[in-house]
Amino acid sequence: MLSETTLSNTEPTPSLTNFEVKDEDLPEFRDMRFENINELHLDHPGASDEDYRRRRDYIASLSKNFRETGTITDVEYTEQEQTIWRTVATRLEEIQSRCASTFYLDAKRKLGISTERIPQLSEMNKRLNKLCNFRLAPIEGLVETRGFLSWLSYRTMLCTQYIRHHSRPEYTPEPDIVHEAIGHIPNFTNCDFADFSQFIGHGARIATDEQLEELGRLYWFTVEFGLVEENGELKAYGAGLLSSFGELENAFTDNVERRPFNLEQVINTPYDYSDMQPILYVIPSYAYLKETTRKYIESFNKHP
Ligand SMILES: [Fe+2]
Repeated sequence: MLSETTLSNTEPTPSLTNFEVKDEDLPEFRDMRFENINELHLDHPGASDEDYRRRRDYIASLSKNFRETGTITDVEYTEQEQTIWRTVATRLEEIQSRCASTFYLDAKRKLGISTERIPQLSEMNKRLNKLCNFRLAPIEGLVETRGFLSWLSYRTMLCTQYIRHHSRPEYTPEPDIVHEAIGHIPNFTNCDFADFSQFIGHGARIATDEQLEELGRLYWFTVEFGLVEENGELKAYGAGLLSSFGELENAFTDNVERRPFNLEQVINTPYDYSDMQPILYVIPSYAYLKETTRKYIESFNKHP
């Protein structure tokens, strides 16, 4: 679902060396315009569950409220929601202990993300802010690519707060708090990764439509489905891998072709989000990813 997004007119000019983003540099969240991003699609496991829909709408309304007030409202998750979290987080943790990067596993601990309870965006924000000047902002649904990526240029990631339906704890067709907190958020404790994310954000703000598609592929094969080489072993750091039992197990089988990261190849490789990933790319380090992406985004200015 595409929606129109606008950022404030007073936004500062993008700069690839401007890592410091102070609160006063942020555009007004209330100026963000999103249309119909809270739609629940018919293929969602909770689509015909009225109670689930009502609860999801309520949590989404708290996220929407943030855009008016700028203050994050913590969600009082129900026992049923906590049970879904415990079930999924426990099973993922077991697979991650073998397959996830050690940096990621440490980061999860640093942020206080446990199998016991759903973490609040506000508490993770405090740590992220101190570590690499990164922040999370609640959002009530899936945002179109340019709008979503552009916020990364302010070292801000838009995150949903609701959780998947209890009938299928292993699956969600949309980003939920499991995908955000177990998949994405720990990576922002690595300053190279946070800088890399900011470069993607800068790129999204100045990209042509064609360049935006390339950026979408770069994001997919790194932020969502990236592997990293760590002490001679391949480990997962992509959120789509780390938050999915099936994808995480599959990533290390013969079903997948694991290729060394090559930016030119990555930005030209199509993907299918509806199926298991047959190709994954391995970065040698986050610092390499950051520097390669910096050069790539700088080329946007030279060849608009
Ligand atoms: Fe994601």
